[in-house]
Amino acid sequence: MPSRWYTEKKQEYYYRISKQKGYRARSAFKLLQIQKKYHVLKKGDTVIDLGAAPGGWSQVTKEIIGDGKVIAVDKEVFDPLPGVLFIEGDITKRTTIDKIQQEIQNGIDVVLSDLSPNISGNYSMDHAKSVWLCLYALEIAQNVLKKNGCFICKIFEGETLQEFVDETTKRFNQTKLFTPKATRKHSSETYVIGKGFKGFLEPLIL
Ligand SMILES: C[S@@+](CC[C@H](N)C(=O)[O-])C[C@H]1O[C@@H](n2cnc3c(N)ncnc32)[C@H](O)[C@@H]1O
Repeated sequence: MPSRWYTEKKQEYYYRISKQKGYRARSAFKLLQIQKKYHVLKKGDTVIDLGAAPGGWSQVTKEIIGDGKVIAVDKEVFDPLPGVLFIEGDITKRTTIDKIQQEIQNGIDVVLSDLSPNISGNYSMDHAKSVWLCLYALEIAQNVLKKNGCFICKIFEGETLQEFVDETTKRFNQTKLFTPKATRKHSSETYVIGKGFKGFLEPLIL
């Protein structure tokens, strides 16, 4: 069990280097650590970033994909970097999904979701809300991804985590669970990584 001293030092470390590197959020390091291990993003990709505010993941994604395109979606408004297209909206609303569909010409290479519900502190309730958002993210992914595309999705651990992993596994050739080192020590969040999209299976939620 790491000491409180160690946990605080680790948080200070990521805070400090995200400031040094000019990242908008320390969560940028989580995506960098996922990318280092799984090589999901490639130069020229078209990427959707769900739950994108304040823009850390879109920033890292743009650095990696170069001339590729990032479509960032959030219900909170933020000022996107050049080369990032921002869609304001709640991803559980049909109008937002329609706006996303309008921006897609040739399909999407990667769908990212760092969506987080408002945390209540009640472990089961927060898990349930997180899974609900994850189901929307997976539904959007299966409607927009190109064959062999990838999916990265934050989820809060809990009793239905495995069911969500199973739904992802049905739709992707490889599915992994990964917790980046930059995740806060007592957080219950982890990431589901799906690689090699097989194709639309059946509606999950919409
Ligand atoms: C942890 S933050 C994302 C941080 C981001 N990845 C970054 O690096 O800057 C989670 C985001 O999910 C968004 N969110 C939560 N529920 C949403 C919903 N139903 N529709 C759209 N965005 C949502 C929140 O507004 C919040 O900005």
